Amino acid sequence: MSEPDSSQTVFWTKRWQAGKIPWDCGGIPPSLVKFLSRISAQTRVLIPGCGSGYEVRAFHEVGHDVSAIEFSAPAVAHAKEVLGPLSQRVIHGNFFKHDFADNRFGLVYERGFLCSLPPTRWADYAARMSDLVSPGGRLVGLFLYGHEPEPPPYPLTESTAAELLGPSFRLVHSEAVTGSVPVYQGLEHWQEWERRAG
Ligand SMILES: C[S@@+](CC[C@H](N)C(=O)[O-])C[C@H]1O[C@@H](n2cnc3c(N)ncnc32)[C@H](O)[C@@H]1O
Repeated sequence: MSEPDSSQTVFWTKRWQAGKIPWDCGGIPPSLVKFLSRISAQTRVLIPGCGSGYEVRAFHEVGHDVSAIEFSAPAVAHAKEVLGPLSQRVIHGNFFKHDFADNRFGLVYERGFLCSLPPTRWADYAARMSDLVSPGGRLVGLFLYGHEPEPPPYPLTESTAAELLGPSFRLVHSEAVTGSVPVYQGLEHWQEWERRAG
């Protein structure tokens, strides 16, 4: 039987169960710390595919109303352990299917989620982000650019990113990042995409 692709829960659950989580950086990425120190307005935040969920605490501590969503049960259990009293902030669900009711987010934080999806799901990602981020709000975080011979991760190219996110978002900040975990080495860029009005 062929291996399930990385859009499937079982693909990730196998890795979490085996403790094979090379993307996990064990804490808050320094680029996020820098970003949090320069924004003042508090908002509703979503972290899709949150894995260990370390960033939930970082957003909460500076006053944001943060939720995270993760579809692999062992990852959810681990995140809840990591987060202790903030464990209720983690939703066990599928980012593409969960009913967020009328909630829109001022900020969605990305790390390791888009690049975990096969490119066949990227249009769904862009459409969902466009629905979930309020006009003027931002999709921010660490995006991978470059070439990976054995994906996942699936990095972007500048033209794919522009094609994908450009219709609903405007790129307002981008910088290459150093000190990434080995699987993301040389690929990570901190980016801020602002949701266009309407
Ligand atoms: C590469 S890991 C990154 C985890 C975390 N964001 C980090 O930076 O350490 C991708 C995570 O996304 C989760 N995931 C993938 N597709 C998902 C979906 N459709 N809904 C919710 N979680 C998903 C996987 O279970 C996995 O834990």
